[in-house]
Amino acid sequence: MSNGATVGIHDLSFATTEFVLPHTALAEYNGTPVGKYHTGIGQRSMSVPAADEDIVTLGATAAAPIVARHGTDGIRTLVFATESSIDQAKAAGVYVHSLLGLPSATRVVELKQACYGATAALQFALGLIHRDPTQKVLVVASDVSKYELDSPGEATQGAAAVAMLVTADPALVRIEDPSGLFTADVMDFWRPNYRDAALVDGQESIGAYLQAVQGTWKDYSEQGGRPLEDFGAFCYHQPFTKMAYKAHRHLLNSAGRDTDEAAVERALGRTTGYNAVIGNSYTASVYLGLAALLDGAEDLDGQAVGFLSYGSGSVAEFFAGTVVPGYREHLRTEAHREAVERRQPIGYDRYRELHEWGFPTDGGDHPTPAGTTGPFRLAGIGGHKRIYEKR
Ligand code: CAA
Repeated sequence: MSNGATVGIHDLSFATTEFVLPHTALAEYNGTPVGKYHTGIGQRSMSVPAADEDIVTLGATAAAPIVARHGTDGIRTLVFATESSIDQAKAAGVYVHSLLGLPSATRVVELKQACYGATAALQFALGLIHRDPTQKVLVVASDVSKYELDSPGEATQGAAAVAMLVTADPALVRIEDPSGLFTADVMDFWRPNYRDAALVDGQESIGAYLQAVQGTWKDYSEQGGRPLEDFGAFCYHQPFTKMAYKAHRHLLNSAGRDTDEAAVERALGRTTGYNAVIGNSYTASVYLGLAALLDGAEDLDGQAVGFLSYGSGSVAEFFAGTVVPGYREHLRTEAHREAVERRQPIGYDRYRELHEWGFPTDGGDHPTPAGTTGPFRLAGIGGHKRIYEKR
């Protein structure tokens, strides 16, 4: 089902936070049986940002190794996808552009449509490269997922950034046409400008996601996409890893297939490793699923992978990619595992303190407490301006 051109993901790198809260600590605090977290939603721990980490520092940390490996030649566009934006006007990607020392001859823009934004960024990148295959696009998906303390969503929080270099003749995954698309105006999850934490109708959001899975698959099939049997694995948006299982069973049912549990596990099991310990990273989550799949032990040369990107509100897209033979030589498996393992475990009280932390809004000079040991930090704000620095 390829359109003939080979465009796709040439490099992929992710970053996550300084701290991690195990679900055992949350369960101990709120009295929830830990099985609800470990088995019921499929989550083991959640990444928690230090006060001096945010979507910019995470995004820059994810993208820096890509720039170190490939240089900046040919990168003329940086698209930053997020739904935890830090400014209503200025694109977070402009700070990343500066921290990474990208050339001034670059277009930078921020995209938003809940967790779907990174897929829009990827598709727009592919379009730019089809237009001029000598160009490269840096896509950065970065989010901090935040719900109210003591709310049902709290256990699904997390934070991470995925950076992808999108090029012609990619080394990792060729992205194919067509895409299956689905948009529906629903209020399942949203965050008004005056709020820090998202609002969500949990059960409504699960239903809306499942409806979108069905809608995208229908459109994908009508557009002449691959049959289900072609796919070796499926990367779903994973607000919590069990959601991917609900979604895939729904896809199989609605396509009139059996939901054989071994086959479901085979299609999804290799995509959940990072999301289960990082938590919901919103726009980055589906691409953390891809990172887990590629970093796994199995050789995927030439295999077709299905991607289902869902953003509440809602917009969804189903598309296919083919893993490029020889991809293993270009992976960052060790660095990815290190990003997860280097996090410092914290207890419930420290997590709560960080959850409640925020800058005063008086326009004064407010340095940020030191926390991160990563390469970039948010040093503070002064005169309502965010100040970033390299460590
Ligand atoms: N042992 C094992 N399993 C247990 C258990 C135990 N002791 N106790 C409960 N469970 C199971 C339940 O049976 C349930 O499983 P099923 O869904 O398979 O029936 C699961 O654990 C969760 O239990 P509840 O449904 O009772 O949990 P809840 O209502 O307290 O919270 C939630 C679940 C609604 C998903 C909540 O975490 C939430 O609001 N999350 C945020 C919204 C979200 O992630 N929505 C997903 C779709 S929207 C989207 O994808 C966009 C996005 O990123 C937000």
